[in-house]
This record gives sequence, structure tokens and C-alpha cells, in this order.
Amino acid sequence: MSSSTPRPVQSVSNTELYNRWAKVYDTDGNILQAIDDALLPPLLDQAFQLLSSSSPISITELGCGTGRNTAKLLLPSLTTIVPIKSITALDLSEGMLSVAKQRCESLLASTASTATSAPPTLNFHVFDALSPSDLGVEGSADLVLSTLVLEHLPIDTFFKAASSFLKPNGVLVVTNMHADMGRISQAGFVDPESGEKVRGTSFVYEIQEVLDEGRKWGFEVLGSVGEREVGEKDIGEGKLLGPRGKKWVGVDVWFGLVMSLSGGRAF
Ligand SMILES: C[S@@+](CC[C@H](N)C(=O)[O-])C[C@H]1O[C@@H](n2cnc3c(N)ncnc32)[C@H](O)[C@@H]1O
Repeated sequence: MSSSTPRPVQSVSNTELYNRWAKVYDTDGNILQAIDDALLPPLLDQAFQLLSSSSPISITELGCGTGRNTAKLLLPSLTTIVPIKSITALDLSEGMLSVAKQRCESLLASTASTATSAPPTLNFHVFDALSPSDLGVEGSADLVLSTLVLEHLPIDTFFKAASSFLKPNGVLVVTNMHADMGRISQAGFVDPESGEKVRGTSFVYEIQEVLDEGRKWGFEVLGSVGEREVGEKDIGEGKLLGPRGKKWVGVDVWFGLVMSLSGGRAF
């Protein structure tokens, strides 16, 4: 296809989008994942510090995808702040979950001989926040992590699900596509098999909207909200973003924040 020919776009359900994307999600040079990889660790650090007086913590990840960030939870830099008892990783897509399971199990196996403490119990479940099933872990998480998932859900559905998993005073770490990027684009990928651009359902959320909706569900933001614009300095060989980042220079693409369920659950 010539560079001037518009690529055909296929709109599919989010389940189909991610079941197909799972094959290349970790390798197709998505810029938001690269930015999230760079900016999530300080938010996780902040959350773990907040929970550092707790006994070993339980974590639920809403929309774990291929386990890109589930694997970060297993790093000693975090688990020395507070140990993790269990991680429940949830996702709509069986394809994504299967990659996540393999990735985390391989990581734990490769670190087993040097680990100084028992590894967390890891559970992976298919879960649709739009039609939530009872998993038996509601109200049990000290921390809910959800990265780049909010754009796929009605905003009240997102906070309902996040708050349903948390203990009172639990902590929520959330990252998402920035509205400035969302107005131009949405999550999707080029299917290497068909050459088509494949997209699902996405919503655009301003940061203020997220803070306002969160408050309705009992969440207060802790610290400041991180926002990230792509700069020229990010683009090029050995830089944060590959060539796909070029068209985003000057655009805010990511935001991330830590919230506390200080008011308890709203239902
Ligand atoms: C952009 S990916 C992010 C995956 C992972 N958190 C990351 O940061 O790499 C969005 C994920 O949200 C999941 N998702 C979308 N809609 C969902 C829903 N209704 N319930 C649960 N997960 C959902 C998708 O299957 C996909 O794995």
C-alpha cells in the first residue's frame, strides 16, 4: 500500500480488538506503552509507600492486558517497600490474559532461585467491567492498578469496578490516554495479517472529568496528576519513542495519578 493510500479501518468489539492485538501488542512500537513504561514506576512507588505500613498487600489489576505492568509489580524495588500477598489480574480478552500469565510465570520461575521471600499468589481471570461477574475478591484489594484501560469504559463503570475491588482506604493507580491524543486517535493496531487498522470502542476523558467522577465514588487524588507531552527529544534512535512518535510531537498523550478511596465505597 502506498503511503498516500488511506489504510482501511475495521471497527470491532473490544474483545475482538484485544484478542487479535495480543499477538503483537508487546512488539508493535505503541507509543503510549513506551510512555507508560517510563512514567508508571514513580506512581507505583508512591502507592507502595502509602501502603508501607500495611501487612503484605493484595493487588487487583483491572485490564492487565499482556501483563506489561503486572510484571513490574514483581520487581524487588517495590516488594521491599511492602510485600505482596496476592495479585489478581483481570482482563476482558483471553488472548491478552494468556500472554500475561506466561510472562509473569516465566518471570517468577527465573527469579525463584534468588528470591528472598515467597512469591505472591497470582490469579488470572477473564473479567468484563461492563458486565461484572462475582470473582470472590471484591472489597479485598489494598491496591487497584489500571493502566490504559479507562478509555475503553464509561467513566462511572470504571470507578464502580475499581471501588468494588478495594478495601476502605485502598489506593487506586490509574493511567490513561490524554484527551488531547484521544480527540485525534484511539487505541488500535495495524493487523499484520490483513493490513487493516483495527479499532474498538473508546471514550475521551479530560483529567478534570476523571477527578470529578472519582470523587462521586469516594476517591481523592493524592499528590499531583502527571501529564506527558511528546517532545522532539523523545524521537529517534535509542530514544524513548521510535519513528511512530514523530506525529505526536507537541501533543499531550498520557496522564496518570494515584487516588485513595478515602471516603469508603459509594455503594
Ligand atoms: C490498552 S490495553 C492496556 C493493557 C495493560 N493494562 C497495559 O497497560 O499494557 C487495554 C486493556 O483493557 C482491556 N479491557 C477493555 N475493555 C475491558 C472491559 N470491559 N473489562 C475488562 N478489561 C477491559 C483490554 O482487553 C486490554 O487488555
